[in-house]
Amino acid sequence: MAEIDMRKVDEIIDRYKGEEGVLIQLLLDLQSEFNWISPEAIAQISEQMRIPKSQIYRIASFYKAMNLKPVGRHIIQVCLGTACQVRGAPKILDRIEENLKIKEGATTSDMRFSLKRVNCLGCCAMGPVIVVDGIYHGKITPLMVENILEQYE
Ligand code: FES
Repeated sequence: MAEIDMRKVDEIIDRYKGEEGVLIQLLLDLQSEFNWISPEAIAQISEQMRIPKSQIYRIASFYKAMNLKPVGRHIIQVCLGTACQVRGAPKILDRIEENLKIKEGATTSDMRFSLKRVNCLGCCAMGPVIVVDGIYHGKITPLMVENILEQYE
């Protein structure tokens, strides 16, 4: 489990204390610092900012940019949009799942990778496409998967 430095959480909360309408920005700052927003951080915000936990959870679950579960150091997105599907994307996903020994939506136990599926990355002509940490890899085959993942050791 990814450790959260609670002193750093307090430091981020302090930036916003006493201000109104800052919850989203505060959560985004936590997200960018830790890559996820832990239950401990939510409890701390609730106590210090006097905001009900339920409201914080509602906002954090609404925004896709915020994670309520720890994520790996590298994020792999596999496109399963129609154009990529017909070009073999399901086999790419299978190969990645096999290689990392996790299913889509999960994180490896060493916190190295999180695997997500997405529906069209807007570059269908490059399909099948995967994105690792924002870098696009297009026209990939199952045989290329291992090589790509090795770059992110
Ligand atoms: S369907 Fe994969 S990029 Fe559009």
